[in-house]
Amino acid sequence: QMGKVGDDLGEDVYLVGGSVRDLFLRSDHLDIDVVVEGDAIEFARAFAQGRDDLRLRTHKKFNTAKLLFDSGLTMDLATARLEYYMSPAALPVVEHSSVKLDLYRRDFTINTMAVRLNGRQFGLLIDFFEAMRDIKEKVIRVLHNLSFVEDPTRVFRAIRFEQRFGFRIGKLTEALIKNAIKIDAFRRLTGSRLFGELKHILEEESVTPAIERLNEFKLLRVFHPALQLTAKQLELLDQAEETLAWYRLSFIDKPLRRWLLYFLALADGLDEQQMTELCQRLGFAPKLREEITEMRAKALRCVNVLQRRAARPSQTFELLRPLGLEFQLLVMAKTSKDYAKKAVSQYLTTMVRVRPELGGQDLKAMGYLPGPLYKQILDTLLAARLDGQVQTRQDEIDLVE
Ligand code: CTP
Repeated sequence: QMGKVGDDLGEDVYLVGGSVRDLFLRSDHLDIDVVVEGDAIEFARAFAQGRDDLRLRTHKKFNTAKLLFDSGLTMDLATARLEYYMSPAALPVVEHSSVKLDLYRRDFTINTMAVRLNGRQFGLLIDFFEAMRDIKEKVIRVLHNLSFVEDPTRVFRAIRFEQRFGFRIGKLTEALIKNAIKIDAFRRLTGSRLFGELKHILEEESVTPAIERLNEFKLLRVFHPALQLTAKQLELLDQAEETLAWYRLSFIDKPLRRWLLYFLALADGLDEQQMTELCQRLGFAPKLREEITEMRAKALRCVNVLQRRAARPSQTFELLRPLGLEFQLLVMAKTSKDYAKKAVSQYLTTMVRVRPELGGQDLKAMGYLPGPLYKQILDTLLAARLDGQVQTRQDEIDLVE
């Protein structure tokens, strides 16, 4: 249908970039990139007309549009800037010249393929820069020598794709990365762009090997000079991964910021001051910065108490309750004692659901006046329940009286 709109408007349209790459490398790509040799907004409007299974968002400044399908699929439409290349002397060979330039501006060869979506050449795979060869050879290559200088975030993308697909970074590309590091091209990156890249890496399926690669390139210090990958750090990253594997199987259905657990593990060796500096460099909002510094300190105390000796359930409960989920999992990852790990797992899977049977109404009926006393009584009942001291409603009534 995209193709039909293209034909109607007399504009050529292509599927491009990561979505074409993933036709060959994986199948779960839900973001689709399309380039129109014409006006992308006008094109998107024409496509959306009469359909009720999508929403349209447009961005005038960049002349781009986004289609959000009810199915969860999203499609970005961009304009290949035809005006530069529409010289009357254009030769037939450069028929796809505007999309070619659009593709040439991209990061790696593997992201430069396009599929024609309209006209008689529908389905034609266009590969100007030997992307297919590089996919077969499993190598990440830039298109030109200034790629990383123009956009240093691409260094992190190179490492991310390398690990995701089990590719390796090509020799020249590697030398260009080293050059970007040498001239410290990352200095001018804003906190949020730098964080965006780190977060992407920490959200990938396999995180530790990518961090090891960052370390090999001496890229961790771009985030903070004291950030290192020691044996202890590696062990903690492994533990974080195991903890996440456990979490996935536990069917706890709470939103989890996976990246945050890895972030905490990675930065575990930093002291409070350094952690604050790291958060600042990454442009974290004050709220997130405070959450991280406060909860991290609490989590550390929690690890110390929990692994000294097996704690009573009510004590475990009190220690873990103030922590956010990622920090509770950090405690689990950090402790080396099985009984402490078990305490956290029991907290997350069962303790959080325990409630006293008596409620405010019952206390009122028993003659207690509403006030702060209620919370005290209910907390005491909860602790007694967690520790198995009360089992029935009558036990609770006896305890209150
Ligand atoms: N791109 C680029 N330089 C960047 C970011 C993106 O050249 N710094 C180009 C790439 O060609 C990429 C396309 O823009 O294919 C779309 O970017 P994005 O959606 O971030 O990348 P994907 O390749 O789709 O990666 P992912 O699978 O992680 O979404």
